[in-house]
Amino acid sequence: MSFPKDFVWGAAAASFQIEGAVAEDGRAPSIWDHHTRWMPEKFYEGNHGDTACDHYHRMDEDVDLMRGIGLKAYRFSIAWPRVMPEGTGAVNPNGLAFYDRLVDALLAAGVAPWATIYHWDLPVDLHYRGGWLNPDLPKYFEDYTKAVVDKLSDRVRHWMTLNEPQCFIGFGLQTGDHAPFLKLPVRDCLRAAHHALLAHGRAVRVLRAGSKTPAVVGWAPVGVVTMPANDSPADIEAARAAMFGIREPSLWSNTWFSDPVVFGKYPEDGLRVFGAAAPEQNPEEMALISQPLDFYGANIYTGQTFRAGADGAPEKVGGEDGPALSLYHWKMHPDCLYWGPRFLYERYNLPVVITENGMAGCDWVARDGAVHDAHRIDFTARHLAELRRACADGVDVRGYFHWSLMDNFEWAQGYKMRFGLVHVDFATLARTPKQSASWYRDVIRSNGSVL
Ligand code: FCB
Repeated sequence: MSFPKDFVWGAAAASFQIEGAVAEDGRAPSIWDHHTRWMPEKFYEGNHGDTACDHYHRMDEDVDLMRGIGLKAYRFSIAWPRVMPEGTGAVNPNGLAFYDRLVDALLAAGVAPWATIYHWDLPVDLHYRGGWLNPDLPKYFEDYTKAVVDKLSDRVRHWMTLNEPQCFIGFGLQTGDHAPFLKLPVRDCLRAAHHALLAHGRAVRVLRAGSKTPAVVGWAPVGVVTMPANDSPADIEAARAAMFGIREPSLWSNTWFSDPVVFGKYPEDGLRVFGAAAPEQNPEEMALISQPLDFYGANIYTGQTFRAGADGAPEKVGGEDGPALSLYHWKMHPDCLYWGPRFLYERYNLPVVITENGMAGCDWVARDGAVHDAHRIDFTARHLAELRRACADGVDVRGYFHWSLMDNFEWAQGYKMRFGLVHVDFATLARTPKQSASWYRDVIRSNGSVL
């Protein structure tokens, strides 16, 4: 058993988490710069992204590392405040030039560029204008996307619009865990989410109309995954119902975001739960949101097990003794990479790409100079084996991007959480490929048959 021919083996990172160079070449602050500076207490040890991995200055070295691993593709994100420092209006050619060089370097290294247009770094000027609550945001996002597409689409073919709206709206505006650390009423959060969906739709439209090469377009929401306790039809149905059901007024949902994007309407159960807080479904807007997509990206790290309760309703299976945990305390459930893609494919009928999967570990450079991250190798091998099983069962999975290429700034957790295939010493900025990097190289070379 191996993976489909032409399977895309990649690794991912995001602008704010690696670039640094926050005040260079005309870049303006994002909400993450702003809050690390003005609310340092929200971040592990007051960590900030001013230098991060200094990728902005070490891009060539980093692309060499990718070449060394043999990556087929690299998923990166573009920083809105580099390209359009005020979020709207003037384009900053010097900011775009960085991505231009990156794309050329990737292509020269035989690594396909997969670009994410928005991975959370909202220009701070837009925050002062209401951020995602501002009904003009979708239009600004369209203009920003257009600038990016004009510059890069002669060479970039693969695009993702938004990364994890569940997080940048849910954690950013509802629970107050991420910048801009707000705790808004659910009605406001749903309004902001609606604007994010409109921004997505406008961006897809721009990509279709303006790309210089045929664009392959998807997005990268969270895959909120549930798995059945066993393979009985009742448990499978219970897990599916849990994965696609909305029972509480939370934005931690697949369907609230993906049903509008794929089907052009909000899910009925969500409308019931949110009631008067839900945004109006104006047919023109819903049509704009539901532009055809080429793939469904899903960021999947873990999942929850469900079974059919006495009345058949989904019931969470809890009480694991001593579960395997990552440093984040996310439970290891490799079958999330079987059931996640399978359920998403069955519901949305789009090819699936795993746009993120990986684990946070305690990794350091040992006295022998190596980084012995056996836990990451084992974690990834188990997850990939489940993904391969999904492929064997007919799920159309086109690619897998490991999060992350290198250790980086993990949002509110700062530099505590190390997710990389490559270790970064944040004092010296030295890169050391971990053992998982050479293991992943062998996986890629064999198209997964060494697993
Ligand atoms: C996801 C984010 C990514 C990274 C991983 C660990 O939620 O998209 O930037 O932080 O989690």
